[in-house]
Amino acid sequence: MNVFFIRLVVGALLLDPVMSSGSGKHSLWVLASYISGPTQFPEFTAVVMLDDIQVRYYDSQINQLTRVGGGAEKGAGLDLGQEGAFILQEIFSNLRKRLNLVKDQMNLTAAGVHVQQRITGCELLPGGQPAFIMFRDGANGQDADSLQYNTTHFAYAAAASWGFSFEAMKQTYLQALYANIYLPFCARALRHLLDREKHVVMRRVRPRVRLMTKQVVGGARLTCLATDFYPRHINLTLQRDGVPVDADRLSGGSVLPNGNGLYQVRKALTIDGEELRRKHVYTCTAAHLSLDNRLDVRWRAESLRTHRVHVLSVPAVLVVAAALLMVLLWRRGAGSEAVTMETDEQTITDPQ
Ligand SMILES: *[C@@H]1O[C@H](CO)[C@@H](O)[C@H](O)[C@H]1NC(C)=O
Ligand SMILES: *[C@@H]1O[C@H](CO)[C@@H](O)[C@H](O)[C@H]1NC(C)=O
Ligand SMILES: *[C@@H]1O[C@H](CO)[C@@H](O)[C@H](O)[C@H]1NC(C)=O
Repeated sequence: MNVFFIRLVVGALLLDPVMSSGSGKHSLWVLASYISGPTQFPEFTAVVMLDDIQVRYYDSQINQLTRVGGGAEKGAGLDLGQEGAFILQEIFSNLRKRLNLVKDQMNLTAAGVHVQQRITGCELLPGGQPAFIMFRDGANGQDADSLQYNTTHFAYAAAASWGFSFEAMKQTYLQALYANIYLPFCARALRHLLDREKHVVMRRVRPRVRLMTKQVVGGARLTCLATDFYPRHINLTLQRDGVPVDADRLSGGSVLPNGNGLYQVRKALTIDGEELRRKHVYTCTAAHLSLDNRLDVRWRAESLRTHRVHVLSVPAVLVVAAALLMVLLWRRGAGSEAVTMETDEQTITDPQ
């Protein structure tokens, strides 16, 4: 949406790896933006994330919580539509108030475009008990203040550049508010959404795993690539003759969004001419919740033009799929000097 937003979101991801499901913990996050000044955006927008999936949207023009992907809100014992909209309106007015304070204090002109943002939300333990709640604010892309409460400890912090900080009395009030009102409410909303959206957040999508080889000056570069899987958590390892390759020889390894709600990760190994001549067998192995067993893809360093792919201990469907893929890739690469498995980087959707 805008650059400030992204900065904050990235901050939250670093702060909280749990946002990326798969661990049995679940989380609910609201990413809210208040914008003043002439823009095409609504004054206030909020995106509701369940784990790492956007499930609801709210803005000050439509003024109601809408399901992403359509369909009416329904649920026994909880009118998330009304209560949720009430909380979001509170965030809206709070962000507006804070931005006005900033503008006064910083002598910012009323005419410019200014943004106040908040990430707020909670986490449940695998058993479903409320575990954690927080908010974190930013003003014009700079950190402002943040609050965390994990059922035993409360912490409030304000950045030095943010000219305001709550005094002790106000912090005590906030602790009571977050512990007794917001955390139980957020936990209820989270359980409701989990029930409502379980087909999305509980789904398991198998990775496609490929081992690509490419000739480089003085040797070869092996890239093990897993794409289009969900949830985010995956263990991707590269072995040489059955022995894991040292992590410091590998590059890559960050799990990235694939742009379609799924994830991708790659690990690359550069081997020199001498290692290449020793004809080791390289195996790329993926372990993922969606797989009963591990998924292996192999390559023997005979020459860069011949290599084999074995798919071990996986359902027959995958073996067939891999065989088809091999045929397709072989046909694509046929006649060229390059490695037949090479599919190169462009085929992967750029992470957003
Ligand atoms: C804002 O303006 C006031 C009065 O003009 C001045 O005293 C103050 O230092 C200014 N603040 C900033 C952050 O520039
Ligand atoms: C809450 O956070 C504090 C400080 O980080 C930590 O010592 C404590 O164990 C945490 N409590 C729970 C229940 O996680
Ligand atoms: C990945 O490895 C870790 C540590 O060995 C293990 O706890 C986890 O269950 C593995 N994840 C998968 C999806 O196999």
